[in-house]
Amino acid sequence: QGTPVVLGIESSCDETGAGLVRGGRLLGHAVASSMEEHARFGGVVPEIAARAHVHSFTPVVHRALAEAGLRMSDIGAVAVTTGPGLSGALQVGLAGAKGLAYALGVPLYGVHHLAGHVAADTLAHGPLPDPCVVLIVSGGHTSLLFVRDLARDPIVHLGDTLDDAAGECFDKVARVFRLPYPGGPAIDRMAREGDARAVTLPRPLTGPRDDPYTFSFSGLKTAAARWAERHRGQELPVADGAAALQEAVADVLTRKAVAACTAHGVGTLVVVGGVAANSRVRALAEERCAAAGLTLRVPPLKLCTDNGAMIAAIGDLLVRAGADPAPLDVSIDPSAPL
Ligand code: KG4
Ligand code: ZN
Repeated sequence: QGTPVVLGIESSCDETGAGLVRGGRLLGHAVASSMEEHARFGGVVPEIAARAHVHSFTPVVHRALAEAGLRMSDIGAVAVTTGPGLSGALQVGLAGAKGLAYALGVPLYGVHHLAGHVAADTLAHGPLPDPCVVLIVSGGHTSLLFVRDLARDPIVHLGDTLDDAAGECFDKVARVFRLPYPGGPAIDRMAREGDARAVTLPRPLTGPRDDPYTFSFSGLKTAAARWAERHRGQELPVADGAAALQEAVADVLTRKAVAACTAHGVGTLVVVGGVAANSRVRALAEERCAAAGLTLRVPPLKLCTDNGAMIAAIGDLLVRAGADPAPLDVSIDPSAPL
């Protein structure tokens, strides 16, 4: 019958995503977000997220099928995020995926959320070169990865963040700046009218004795908060603060990512995750990759943030590599290491 259509299900945080991929090609996908329901709490509320997944699961699957012009019976395999993520949220997606796989009599694949983020780029730009370095930057993760064959070889962590993720740093500072949640896009928008040089912020862990691939963003967050504090009683020049914060984050991320490629003799840098949507991160990555003779790959925005297409993409790679499906008693792994 050839290569099956893989349905991918994502529910690790506040996005319910379903995507359909066959043979490396994206056929359709849909996402529902509970972001607005969390906004007034300033962050994702696990219980609300889980409930929203229950509500959105079936409609999102149907929307993805409709976009692809497919029927439920066309699905040949189901891939689902088993971790890392919020346990209640993951359980809804896994239960739904199991139900579908069981009812359709097709194999089920449990996949890692971050492997999904990496695989997202293959939908836009084709197979990943082996090896490549991947910078994954989102609200929950900031890591530099050494990636070989996604379906066969374990992903090697070159470095991670010691504390906050880059997206978390944007989100937390945005709160201090009284910008709307989620903070990343708000900081990006504000930064356009600001002058990054108007505010001096540190570049954490970039000294000669620091680990070249380890990140830290909590000190940067504190420095930005202190700067805001010094303006108490006055009007805060938010645009300048946003521009300076964005510049500091983009500088550190791209500096370390390019250094990782150079040190490992890798010719391609892939940037994925929600923060890859940041305009300054993209621009600086382009500039520095060009200067270092590296190929830069960044998937389009809608594939950068959490979605089901990326889970279908890694599922499709696993199916085509002949990987073993998961048993139907597979569990979630909320704190899964990569
Ligand atoms: O990948 P993602 O949708 O979810 C996970 O965390 O897994 O990433 C969401 C994160 C949030 O922290 C959000 O503020 C950040 O990505 N983000 C951005 C931008 N768009 C989303 N950060 C900076 N600039 C942006 N344009
Ligand atoms: Zn994510």
